[in-house]
Amino acid sequence: MAENAKNTDSMEKIVSLAKRRGFVYQGSEIYGGLAGIYDFGPRGVELLNNIKKSWWKANVYDKENYFGLDAGMFKHPKVWEASGHVGGFSDPLAECRNCNARIRVDKELAKIDVIADEKMSEEDINKLFDEYRDKIKCPNCGKKDFTRVRAFNLLVKSNLGDFTSEGNDPVYLPGEACQGIYLDYKNIVDTMQPKIPFGVAQIGKAFRNEISPRNFLFRTREFEQADTQFFIRPNENKEAYENIKKDRWDWYLSLGIKEEKLRFKQHDNLVFYAKDAWDIEYEFPTGFDEVEGIHDRTDYDLSQHMKFSGTDLRYTDPETAEKYIPWILETSMGMGRVFLAILCDAYHEDEMGGETRVVLKLAPHLAPVKAAVFPLLKNKPELVEKAREVYATLKKKIPQVMFDDNGNIGKRYRRQDEIGTPFCITIDFDTLGENPELLNTVTLRDRDSGEQRRIHLDELLPLLSEALEV
Ligand code: GAP
Repeated sequence: MAENAKNTDSMEKIVSLAKRRGFVYQGSEIYGGLAGIYDFGPRGVELLNNIKKSWWKANVYDKENYFGLDAGMFKHPKVWEASGHVGGFSDPLAECRNCNARIRVDKELAKIDVIADEKMSEEDINKLFDEYRDKIKCPNCGKKDFTRVRAFNLLVKSNLGDFTSEGNDPVYLPGEACQGIYLDYKNIVDTMQPKIPFGVAQIGKAFRNEISPRNFLFRTREFEQADTQFFIRPNENKEAYENIKKDRWDWYLSLGIKEEKLRFKQHDNLVFYAKDAWDIEYEFPTGFDEVEGIHDRTDYDLSQHMKFSGTDLRYTDPETAEKYIPWILETSMGMGRVFLAILCDAYHEDEMGGETRVVLKLAPHLAPVKAAVFPLLKNKPELVEKAREVYATLKKKIPQVMFDDNGNIGKRYRRQDEIGTPFCITIDFDTLGENPELLNTVTLRDRDSGEQRRIHLDELLPLLSEALEV
């Protein structure tokens, strides 16, 4: 039985487990790494895909009036002017004169409880910084000698289609994935004839030249966003907004995340496109922080794209022929942040068999490996053969099943516990009929309790299918 189970998560332990067990690697590690870029390893990509599947089910399949989309990443350069990102998507940056480290001034001010408004002009934030600069130390060298603050634009440029090397009119990588939805809004209306209110859901990449990527997957320079944009009639935002907030909250609970680790937080300072904004925050080992933003964007996006593109983006009501620019309610979730929240929430250390074990208590539908099949001993061909037979049968129905005969059985259990495998199945001599009453039975071990029970092979697949919801 598991004893003293407690959530002893710390970011270092999570990062170490993620690397050790093939969830997440530093990008370009053999070259010393590339700041703010991570790769998802064999276990990580499975967990990531399971989160995406769950999100897609909740936001497309379980809804009647939501459409999926996968827009191209590159967009016409004007898109980012229209969206406001070329002019207004920046963070305040100052450089240490001693060691050249760059700081994000609003974040450093926040550490001493001084709040910088997102809408502050360069001049105003310089005034504020000057007031407090003697209290802010360089995180790298400890000196307090910084340059003036400048607004640093976060968009990442590319030279796509530019053969001049002059870099005029750059094609940007997406600063936020949702712009693809606004650009295809008219196509969706024309081809799918949806009635307002309707939603569009998309999982897409975003790139930001973050000044200080930090906290592992929390703030990276390349990340994925899972967005929904809900198109509504003007001013019909209030009730729909509350429903969306509840819907999103419930999705986090469906992942098995502990409710006490979640909270809503309303924005005091709104970004340039939002009329109201709430974050869903998770309590990471480093404290509560945003995993998803829920924004009331009014008609800002479609109005801007209508103005800059010259294309009429008004919706025509099929019954009344009334024309209007729909308002948009957005949910925008960082896939990497949710991945990290799930790891933190699932990470436990407990005592089992007199030893401390690390176990990821992942919800079965998220677990990268659903069940592992072991022969009790690797050097007994008859056990290996039977275990392979069981493994092959299960794998036809549950592809994320693995075979493991490496090391003693205790080590195999520990390995599976660390990657969050809900069940381990062991084939032993009784399975082969050493005790005739137990012929064709196996032990089934539960990850969380460590308890084992003997079940007949005929029961195995139905039991796993039910428990794993596959
Ligand atoms: N379309 C709206 C939008 O992009 P946002 O609050 O900037 O809004 C939405 O981003 C979500 O994207 C955040 O809640 C966060 O989970 C994730 N996100 C933003 N910047 C990120 C970064 N640098 N690294 C990882 N995730 C990030």
